Order: sequence, then structure tokens, then C-alpha cells
Amino acid sequence: MTTTVQAFAPVSKEDLAFIGTDPIPTEPYYRSDYFELEREAIFKRSWIQMGHICEIPEPGSFIVRAFEAGNASLLITRDRDGEVRAFHNACPHRGTQLVQVDGGKRSRFTCPYHGWTFSNQGKLLAAPEADKFYINPSDCTLPAVSVGVCAGFIFINLDKSPRQSLQEYLGPLVAELEKLPHARATTYSEYTYEVDANWKLTYDNFQENYHLRFLHPRSGEAAGGPQNPYGYPTRYGFHDPHRSQTIWSNPDAKPLPFQAFAFGKGARHAMEAGYKLEDKEYFGIFPNLFILGAAMTPFSQCIMPIAANKTRSIIRLYWIGEDDSASKRFAREYAMATALDIHCEDRAVIEAGHRGLASGALSHLHFQSQEVLCRHLYNQVDKRVQAYKAELENRGASE
Ligand code: FES
Ligand SMILES: [Fe+2]
Repeated sequence: MTTTVQAFAPVSKEDLAFIGTDPIPTEPYYRSDYFELEREAIFKRSWIQMGHICEIPEPGSFIVRAFEAGNASLLITRDRDGEVRAFHNACPHRGTQLVQVDGGKRSRFTCPYHGWTFSNQGKLLAAPEADKFYINPSDCTLPAVSVGVCAGFIFINLDKSPRQSLQEYLGPLVAELEKLPHARATTYSEYTYEVDANWKLTYDNFQENYHLRFLHPRSGEAAGGPQNPYGYPTRYGFHDPHRSQTIWSNPDAKPLPFQAFAFGKGARHAMEAGYKLEDKEYFGIFPNLFILGAAMTPFSQCIMPIAANKTRSIIRLYWIGEDDSASKRFAREYAMATALDIHCEDRAVIEAGHRGLASGALSHLHFQSQEVLCRHLYNQVDKRVQAYKAELENRGASE
């Protein structure tokens, strides 16, 4: 079900109260036992973004991704028919991680331990001394993992039989995401960093504008304007577990000359590729991805939990075509440097927030109406954790 609340600027407290108004318990934000429940209830059962189709552009391309919250390493391949496939990166002989590089082009993979060799469709091609086994080694295939693609983003699901296809899971957002420049990206810029904080605290930092004026005072757009002094969104959308918002653009913002040059070049290249300058949509895809569709910053951030108190952020800007001119190169580098500057400012407060909560000093935290997306994430997480606990209890009672 989709619910949209919209206003000229910003959306009112009363209109957002239906998501909830109570204080939120702090323990889910730092306790390892809660994280273990999230691992089972969410990360091993949801569609999780692992990469983008431009990373495996042709038959034989592959990527390997660590997925700590699923206790997994994934091998994602493009087979000779162009089909995208995903496997656990675990050799069926004795479990060794089969591929130990991040990606490349290879249509067969040989295990470093005893030399079993697999195709990029997961089939065993050769096992030294096959006749000495008590099974038929050719029955041993790489364990397949469900995989889906939307707007170029590659998602996997560790559930052996996912309850919903990726398209069902994303529902009405599929059509919106497919319109984004990301869907046609051929390359990207990336940086990753680790944060000593829970994944939800890391995510929440990027789904509220309350902090902008304090933490990012140099950001022109954060300054707001007469109708919207703090630059709050003009629309919030709630789509089952997912969220969206329309970011407000300050019509009176005055960029510095070099910023105007970079934005002009970057936005022009995006617009030539069919994207509109006024589009500025944010999509929060449950559980740990958000995507910003803006002409100058076709952005995504995947927030990978490592432990209850450690998270890896993977930041990307997606581009269509190579940076084949100095102006395009400058525009892309400037967009990336700006994102990096903002994230440097964010990181310290995210970690400070985790330290404060993990001290156990506070039983509850508080979200105001313009932090509604943070509240929605907590609601969606806790709903699944509680359902999983009930499932465990029922299982225990029937044994
Ligand atoms: S563990 Fe892979 S060949 Fe033995
Ligand atoms: Fe921030």
C-alpha cells in the first residue's frame, strides 16, 4: 500500500502523525542480540542490493561481494547467454571461498584448495580424482541464490524461496526507479567507509534534514528559503517497507561560480541523457539502500551492517558514458568531492550517537515529524523482528 503526504513546503506534523508519535526504545540501535534477530528476520529474507549491472557488462563478467549481515559471500556472474546469476561463494567440496578477488572477467572458477572447477552457471566442470569420491561430484553445483535486477541495480535474496519476486517487493517503485539515470548508467564513482555505529543510525543520518543547518552549514541548499527555512522535503511517500521523499530545491540558492560551472556541466550531461533538472526524488529501499535521483548527483548509498556496532557505507554516483571531456570530468569529480565532504561531516556524529546510546543511559529516543522516515524504518524493522520472535516461539511450542 502506498500513502503519500504532500505540501507546498514542508509537510505538517499533523499529517505525519499516522506513522506514530511515541518515543522509540534505544536497545534495537545497539544491542547485539537485536542485531542477531535482524540478521535472521530481515537480512537473510529481504532483497539486498549487491551491485549494478554495469559492473558485469558482458558474458564472463563477475563480481564478488561480502555480505556480513547474511553471513555470506556472493559470486554474481553474467553467463554466456547474458543471464545474471548469483551463487554462494562456497566450494561444495569442503566449503572454501571459491573466488577471492572482487571481480573481473572469467567464465570458469577453480577452487584454490583441491582444484574443483566450476562454470559461471555454477556447474562442476572438473574435480581431480572424481572416481575416488563416494558421490558423483558432478551433482555438486555452486549453491544458487535468487537474483533480480531493477533500474540496473542487482539484488539478491538469501531466502531459498523468496515470498515475493524483486518486482513484487518493490511494487509501485519499480516504474519510478526505472526512470532514474541510474537505470542506464554505464559507469560509476565509488567510495566506501566504515562507521563505528549501528546500521540504522547510519541510515537515519541520511533520511532527515533536521541536522543540516548545524552539521552542514556550508551546503547552500540546506540554508532554506522564505517558505521553507530549513529545507524540509515537500512530499513523503510510504510504500509498505519502502519510503520516498521529494527533496526541496531552494529557488534562491546562489552557487559560487565554479559550482555553477560544475552543476551546469553535470546537470547538462544528465539532461542530455533524458533526465529532468527539477526531478529530485529520494527512494529508501528497505532495508539498507537509498537512491537519490538528481540530475547532478545520481546517487546511491548501500548501508551494509557488519555487526551491531559496525557498518560499511558504499557511496556511488552513477554516470552514463565515459568522462570524455575535461568539463565532464570536472563535473563528476566535483559532485563526488561534495558528497565526500558532507559524509566526512556526518560520520563523527553518527559514531557519537552510537556511543551515547550504547552507554545504556537512555531508554528511549525521540523523532520529530521531520524525522518521520527514521521512525518508519524503525517501525518496519521492529515489525519483522517481532514477527520472527513469534515464529521462533511457535516453532518451539510445536516441537
Ligand atoms: S574445498 Fe574446493 S576443491 Fe576442495
Ligand atoms: Fe548529514
